Amino acid sequence: MKTEKNENNLLKKIKEKQITIGVIGIGYVGLPLALEYAKKGIRTIGFDVDKTKIKQLNNGKNYNQDLDSKEVKKCVSEKFLSATDDFSRLEECNVVFICVPTPFTPNKEPDISYIIDSSNTIAKYLKKEQLIILKSTTFPGTTEKYLKPILEKSGLKVGKDFYLAFSPERIDPGNKKWNTSNTPVVVGGITKKCTELACAVISLAIDKVVPVSSPSIAEMEKLLENIFRSVNIALVNELAQLGDRIGVNIWEVIDAASTKPFGFIPFYPGPGIGGHCILIDPYYLAWMAREYDFVTNFITLAAEINEYMPFYVRNMIISEIAKQDTTIKKAKILILGVAFKKDVDDLRHSPALKVAELLQDENIGKISYYDPYIPEIKVNSKIYKSEKQLNQELLKKFDVVVITTDHSVFDFGLIAKNSKVVIDTRNACKNVKNRNNIILLGDGK
Ligand SMILES: NC(=O)c1ccc[n+]([C@@H]2O[C@H](COP(=O)([O-])OP(=O)(O)OC[C@H]3O[C@@H](n4cnc5c(N)ncnc54)[C@H](O)[C@@H]3O)[C@@H](O)[C@H]2O)c1
Repeated sequence: MKTEKNENNLLKKIKEKQITIGVIGIGYVGLPLALEYAKKGIRTIGFDVDKTKIKQLNNGKNYNQDLDSKEVKKCVSEKFLSATDDFSRLEECNVVFICVPTPFTPNKEPDISYIIDSSNTIAKYLKKEQLIILKSTTFPGTTEKYLKPILEKSGLKVGKDFYLAFSPERIDPGNKKWNTSNTPVVVGGITKKCTELACAVISLAIDKVVPVSSPSIAEMEKLLENIFRSVNIALVNELAQLGDRIGVNIWEVIDAASTKPFGFIPFYPGPGIGGHCILIDPYYLAWMAREYDFVTNFITLAAEINEYMPFYVRNMIISEIAKQDTTIKKAKILILGVAFKKDVDDLRHSPALKVAELLQDENIGKISYYDPYIPEIKVNSKIYKSEKQLNQELLKKFDVVVITTDHSVFDFGLIAKNSKVVIDTRNACKNVKNRNNIILLGDGK
């Protein structure tokens, strides 16, 4: 009877928005989520170990380029949004989201230590009727086999005293159409009640919530989404190499195939994949599968092709230098765009960094870069600062200009007109008329 009363209490509080939300990890995923709740007039506390983020947020300063700075300031000043590194304040929260990183190790094995640390911290302060929702991407079974036992060490039982669910994040930084609130979200709880409560609280901030039968389904569907992208990008990356070999423009091929109104989704080649998701997440499943004597061939093959692309681009650059009246030791290369994808300030696992690293290994005379979103990069142990401005004077200084990230703010006409040679890995110069100096990845010219 007591349990029944508790369950109803939490559901009632959620429906009446009489709850406090805690978000552990206020990065690319956590801050937009926290802001959604704060905007709805729900008291929301961000927990983080990064003191700079905490200070910035408490001063009403937004550090996420996709968020409206005025909204952040308003929510902070109205005391709906705050941040802290005092984890004992988890006790104030009815619902706690975990949005910490899930990277891989140098050997590309899952590193769920951030999830484990957060779970141990929550367990210290866990109280009856709390709902814990893991959002960090991970392999199937993490919520049930790792989180649940840690949280139950508190003496409280899941589904009876507290609630636990997994709900993967789909945020696509830089995407102007799909954001935290209008992108449907999948939810799988340990028990039916866990799913019901998690759906209720997520529905307060997100338009469409899709319940599934278990956390493992939700964990694996997230991996499927990213593996689907990885495999399809690998396919076109392989075909781009074939295009170069046989002199067929793969970009035109993809555009032509895209006119089929059903059964085809376009994916595009590039210098490799980066970021915190598509590159890493497939390895989580491949690692787990090995424990069950299962080899995930598609994942492995896709990774092999995608991870070769920066090497392929390096070879394209070397080949262009060889055609000029210069040497590797004297050649000057300008890399345009180092963020892992267009219009974002996220450098994590960027293929442009890998290209720079490979060029450094070749002892290229001079490597420079320009990216309006990334003021500084570290390649091996060397620090490079972004060129200040992209103009005619700058472009004319280089033997090869390589477009690795096609930021919308770049003037590709200007780039093509003023560079000796442009290696275009994104088909960014597609509208440029005079193409004599443009070497396009995947067209064989
Ligand atoms: N960035 C994306 O586009 C995206 C999209 C979907 C899913 N995800 C997944 O979401 C998760 C978070 O990714 P992100 O991009 O927001 O990472 P992030 O690095 O931007 O943010 C993570 C935050 O967690 C903090 N943190 C680290 N350890 C902590 C601890 N012990 N306690 C409290 N805070 C801690 C960090 O300081 C940081 O602020 C990952 O599992 C990622 O795979 C990310």
